[in-house]
Parts: sequence; structure tokens; C-alpha cells
Amino acid sequence: MKILSVMGTRPNFMKLAPLHRAMSHYPDIQSILVHTGQHYDRQMSEVFFEQLSLPKPDYFLGVNGGSHTKQTASIMLALEEVVQKEKPDLILVVGDVNSTLAGALVAVKSGIRLAHVEAGLRSGDRAMPEELNRILTDSVSDYLFVTEKAALINLEKEGIPNEKVFFTGNCMIDSLVHFIKKAEQLDILKSLGLSPKNYVLMTMHRPSNVDNREGLEKILDMVELISDKVRVVFPLHPRTRSKLQEFGLQEKLSGLKQVNLLEPQGYLEFQNLVMNASAVLTDSGGIQEESTYLNVPCLTFRENTERPVTIESGSNELIPDLNPELACQKIVAILQGKWKNSKIPELWDGKAADRIVAILHKKLSQ
Ligand code: UD1
Repeated sequence: MKILSVMGTRPNFMKLAPLHRAMSHYPDIQSILVHTGQHYDRQMSEVFFEQLSLPKPDYFLGVNGGSHTKQTASIMLALEEVVQKEKPDLILVVGDVNSTLAGALVAVKSGIRLAHVEAGLRSGDRAMPEELNRILTDSVSDYLFVTEKAALINLEKEGIPNEKVFFTGNCMIDSLVHFIKKAEQLDILKSLGLSPKNYVLMTMHRPSNVDNREGLEKILDMVELISDKVRVVFPLHPRTRSKLQEFGLQEKLSGLKQVNLLEPQGYLEFQNLVMNASAVLTDSGGIQEESTYLNVPCLTFRENTERPVTIESGSNELIPDLNPELACQKIVAILQGKWKNSKIPELWDGKAADRIVAILHKKLSQ
């Protein structure tokens, strides 16, 4: 059985690592890894392969940059050639990025069965590129693996037959469970002059927040207000860094006291920073889940989340409109210990990839 997995961005790597490991336990499965190149900096890509024990990909397509259409189409063209050569029995895609959609479209247009891991999540906001990627990918998938129960309802509403859908848990949490000890052992706090529960960790990269001056200015105001109460540790995504430069705001941010601006962090370093933070402030999808698992209070700077379990069971709360005053009030409440504790959601137990590969093995054997 040949399973060809497509990945392209930082959050794809931690979802695919446990799946590739689970496949390696089946002697009759051949796992072929294709890296589209969507993320290509060492700190956005290579570091993750090393730390997650992912082997070098069998194919590197080297597609990056450009508009969403160009990126998606270029990945499709390059991937089709690989698929024609390898003739896999199944194409596996994870998450909701452009590489996910490109992989899904190539599979369905080549008549190859398609599995989507992390299916069924919906923010209800079609202005988000990821939401379109999710809806389109799910609509052509043969096997849909979901991380939380809300996704089951979303897929049912969209008319996806029940027999294609499997509630198997969360592969991103599989990686966290697998590597948590290693992450705990790092002494990154010392090297950054930090101490546990004495800082908040911030990430921002969503186009709706960082691609416009107004959003960036609100983020700056927020960092200024919050850093007056507690140290802010802020690894900068390449998109955010370049937009800060474009709008001439980088210097103002660098000038703030009690703020550590960092390069993108490796997987283990970042998890260490999350587990020791007083709170996480983010607009990412995956970090809402990781902070839920680690019981670290999370503020999410979005109008909605496709991951409602992180609010229902977790410590996550949404902050709409990038509101600096509201964010600062919430941080004060967190620092005073007035925050909910999270419960680990159902099936987030480190074994999702094992369940998924067992199902795929059975389906491909039929
Ligand atoms: C992509 C995903 C987003 C995911 C995020 C995780 C889509 C539509 N978006 O957004 O869902 O949350 O990854 O990080 O697929 N860049 C570099 N070096 C890199 C990677 C990117 O300089 O290693 C630059 C790119 O050239 C581009 C910008 O950063 O100018 C954005 O990269 P891109 O992959 O287009 O989107 P992300 O914002 O990373």
C-alpha cells in the first residue's frame, strides 16, 4: 500500500510526524512524503523535521510565495507529476493550508482516494483562506478524520455521509504528548533571561490581523499596554515581520521595554515557552489546542474559532476587534489567578495517528 502524504507549512509537520511514525509500524505500508515548499526558511521548516524525527521528504516541490491562486496552482502542477510517477493508493492531507487543498484537488482529479486529517472544523468565516480550504478539501475526501465532536455536526450539515467520517482525536496533540518530556528539559527560559509564569507569549500572523496598518497598530498598542504589566515574549512570523517593516512600525515595537522579540522558534523551544507562560496570546489555530492541552490560559485574537472545544473545555477565550484594553483586562485577571482551568478534550490522548492509520490500513486492504 502506497500512501503519499502532502505537507507544506509549519503546522502540517507536527500533524504528519505521528502519522508517518504510525505507518512505519505496518510492513505493508509504504509512506511517501512530499514537501510542497510553502514554508521554506530553516526555522519554519527544517528545524521541525529534525526535532520531530521526520525523515527528509522524498520529494521537495520548492513552491512558495505568490498569490493564493498561484501558490495552489503551482503546487498542483508539481504534485501531479509526482503522483503520476508514484501512483499511490491514497493521498493523505492534513489541516487547512493551501498545500492541503492543492493535494486534495490533485487526488480527486487523478482518481486517487483521499484522506483528510483534521476534517470538519468550521469558523463560519469564508473570508479566511483556511475556511475555503477546509470546505473544499472535505467535500472531495473519501475518509475524514476529526479532532472534536463539533466537526461531526458540521460535516453532517454539509451532507457528508457518516460512513466516511471518523472521530479519532488530534494528531497535533499526538506530537505534543510524544515530545513533551524533551520540550520540558530545554533551558530556553534561562537563555532568554525569563522565569516560569513571569511572562506572556504572543504570536500573530493571520492576514486579517497583520496585513493592514490598522491591525498592526492595534497589536502595537496591545503589546505596549500589556508589557506595562508583564513581560511579553513575541516570536515574529515572517509575514508579520515583513508587514511591520512595510508599514514602518518595526522600530516602535523594538523600542518597547519588557518585550522580547524573537525569531520563529523550533517546535520544542516553542512548547517549552507555552508550558511556562502565564498566558498565550495568539491568532493561530493549533496554539489554541496546545494551550488547552497544557492548561495555559489562552486569548485568541479572532472573531470566531473553528475549534470550539478549546473554549468549551479549554482555557481559551476570543478577543474580537484586536481590542487592546479588553486584552489587557483579561491579562490582569489571568495574572490574578482568576481564570478557568482546562479539561483535556475527548481522545486527545496521543493515539490519534494510530487510530487513523489502523482505519486506513483496513480500508486499503478491502
Ligand atoms: C500559512 C497558512 C496558514 C497557517 C500558517 C502557519 C495558507 C493559506 N495559510 O500562512 O493557514 O496558519 O501558514 O504559519 O496556507 N515566508 C517566509 N518564510 C517561510 C514561510 C513563509 O519568508 O518559511 C513568507 C512567505 O514568502 C510569504 C509570507 O511569509 O510572504 C506568508 O507565507 P504563506 O505560506 O503564504 O502564508 P502564512 O501566512 O505562513
